[in-house]
Amino acid sequence: MSRNQPAPSQRSNISPFIVMDVMRAAAEREASGAAVIHMEVGEPGSAPPLAAREAVMRLLSGGPVGYTGAFGLPELRARISRHYQDQYGVAVDPERIIVTMGSSAAFILSFLAAFDAGDRIGVQIPGYPAYRNTTAALDLVPVSLRTSAATRWTPTPAQVREAHAQAPLKGLLVASPNNPTGTVISRNALSELAQTARDLGLWLISDEIYHGLTYGAGETTALAVEPDAIVINSFSKYWCMTGWRVGWMVVPERLLRPVEKLAQNLFISPPLPSQVAALAAFDAGPELELIKAGYADNRAALMAALPDMGFDEVLPMDGAFYAYASVQRFSNDSKAFAAKLLAETGIAATPGHDFDPEDGHRYLRFSYAGKRESIEACIAGLRAFTAKLR
Ligand SMILES: Cc1ncc(COP(=O)(O)O)c(C=O)c1O
Repeated sequence: MSRNQPAPSQRSNISPFIVMDVMRAAAEREASGAAVIHMEVGEPGSAPPLAAREAVMRLLSGGPVGYTGAFGLPELRARISRHYQDQYGVAVDPERIIVTMGSSAAFILSFLAAFDAGDRIGVQIPGYPAYRNTTAALDLVPVSLRTSAATRWTPTPAQVREAHAQAPLKGLLVASPNNPTGTVISRNALSELAQTARDLGLWLISDEIYHGLTYGAGETTALAVEPDAIVINSFSKYWCMTGWRVGWMVVPERLLRPVEKLAQNLFISPPLPSQVAALAAFDAGPELELIKAGYADNRAALMAALPDMGFDEVLPMDGAFYAYASVQRFSNDSKAFAAKLLAETGIAATPGHDFDPEDGHRYLRFSYAGKRESIEACIAGLRAFTAKLR
């Protein structure tokens, strides 16, 4: 080393995304001219709604594209409030709605506003890896609430109480539909978790980013059972706008000013073009429902095919666009299994390690947010690949 620089921070010493390794291997394969069937990335294969794209084009042909208020455009906040009324019959004051740079920024804002260094937050496992990694980077302590088939992959009040008894928790983070399990927490179960959080004096944070993408299971916003919950959502998934980096959070009154000060300083404002697009996207219902119908078809095809091929355990698939399946019949190392699958068939899928450091080596996640042709090609490729292993 040429300079006597300090070491990087301890807080940045967090786990990488293994899915990125799969994506790199897939990109290398594509660069070499071979085809890849992308089942690894958790994002819609469809363009954002036409109305959203047109709204942005109108904006860009006009005047300056400047900052907005730290909480976002009032019209968008009002429209999100209407969404709660229309979708769930829940009244939410637009003043409590904060537009953010994707749900990722909403997590940072809520963690910083609600918690201090060292605070412990219960998070469900298997679960989205950024919950653990972002909390750890902010000097918070993620506490694993391991779920299993016995409770339909939903954390239970007893688990929360047990973790709290070991050392007090300060928050509970739940996700429904969950990534990667696809599980939806029933209204009853959510209500009981909310009651437990209330009894123990915890912040309840609910990640509702996959709302809109359920296939028969009812959707309950945490706000229906706990008006003081911190609810996080995004235009990334149902609205097909991952790259636009726009989402929102709903916070209780007492967090508004803390979040406002943090948002002003950390982000200044969410991006204006994305907010304009998001507002227009609310009017694209039929277009988005058609895309969702495509996911439903993909889901049905995978649900029928996977167990048949020897993926003995496929988790419930209530919502989102993931099939989380056990590869145990074939391998005890889903990372090696995924590498071999990519090399031999061109199918890219995500090993479970990102979502579950302990048990993820037994699982593979397939995203079915792509086009029908990819799903068919994936099923055919998997069938031939697994037949050779059996
Ligand atoms: C469960 C869950 N929450 C949050 C996010 C982050 O999404 P975004 O920042 O695009 O809103 C993702 C992305 O895959 C996710 O799966």
